[in-house]
Amino acid sequence: MEEILILAVESSCDETAAAVVRNGREVLSNVIYSQIALHTEFGGVVPEIASRKHIEKINQVIGQALAEAGAGLKDMTAIAVTYGPGLVGALLVGVSAAKAISFATGIPLVGVHHIEGHISANFIENKELEPPFVCLVVSGGHSHLVVVKDYGEYEIIGRTRDDAAGEAFDKVARAIGLGYPGGPKIDRVSKEGNPEAIHFPRARVAGSPYDFSFSGLKSAVLNYLNSCEMKGEPVNTADVAASFQKSVVDVLVEHSIEAVKEYGYGKFAIAGGVASNSALRGAFEQACAENQIAFYHPSPVFCTDNAAMIGVAGYYEYRKGIRHGYDLNAVPNLKLGERI
Ligand code: KG4
Ligand code: ZN
Repeated sequence: MEEILILAVESSCDETAAAVVRNGREVLSNVIYSQIALHTEFGGVVPEIASRKHIEKINQVIGQALAEAGAGLKDMTAIAVTYGPGLVGALLVGVSAAKAISFATGIPLVGVHHIEGHISANFIENKELEPPFVCLVVSGGHSHLVVVKDYGEYEIIGRTRDDAAGEAFDKVARAIGLGYPGGPKIDRVSKEGNPEAIHFPRARVAGSPYDFSFSGLKSAVLNYLNSCEMKGEPVNTADVAASFQKSVVDVLVEHSIEAVKEYGYGKFAIAGGVASNSALRGAFEQACAENQIAFYHPSPVFCTDNAAMIGVAGYYEYRKGIRHGYDLNAVPNLKLGERI
């Protein structure tokens, strides 16, 4: 088989990342420069700072990805780059770098959807996984239940009506004084807490069995904290974190298992930053085992933003004949399955 090497670039939020992927599923290098420390003092990602840091880091990160793969630009079959969704200024840095390399070398350019990347992260370590399957994508900006019909072919069957799951983690973490980024901190603190200590709501969206809503849960946590303060009662941070996390996990598991049963593929995957949550993984392992569903998940490093996942998605796009021109632009609200 002809060897296909993809150089992948990702800069949609606060990670500057580049990777080299061989034949779609073998990661030769995966370099991630995380800006988290820079944004922590502001309690969240500051778009201007993110863009500026991407510009500083992008060439270095791409150079390192090639060096670690033991390859040069001349060896690359194509360059894949995230062109949406995400922060426009941040996306533009990766898109411009990829276009410049493509223009200078003649290597074909393939634009990739960020969420398609997250889903495709499952193909890296699960060599036997093939579509069709149902995938839950839970990140800082997205909560989608997706039917992966084929490579690059998706049907969104459920979405959040308000906050994304990761956003809820980040907001609740801030409210209980854990700081940014909230997800990993709540995950850690919850291990010391009792998930049954406080009953927070599990929202359902009337008439839409697979949709999510997390803003009511966030308000319930804020109300609980206020009422403790008014009554002068101490707040057990670990119990609040664990009870909140349990509520999110219960809803995600319940909706997902219903969807897998309905669609009948017997295969289920998770993706996105929140997919690295240990309680979520544990709950899915159990629920899938009970329902004879094969459960797939990427390692944590492939759950949060990285370029290897973009290289995998880019490989399948390349194989489909998808190519972009030098007019490729950042599309901050690009829809899954849409190609511009
Ligand atoms: O996929 P990602 O890196 O970026 C987006 O595309 O949004 O996801 C980041 C989100 C953040 O909201 C972060 O708090 C959450 O994923 N996250 C977690 C965990 N690790 C990251 N949420 C819960 N538990 C975790 N262990
Ligand atoms: Zn992401």
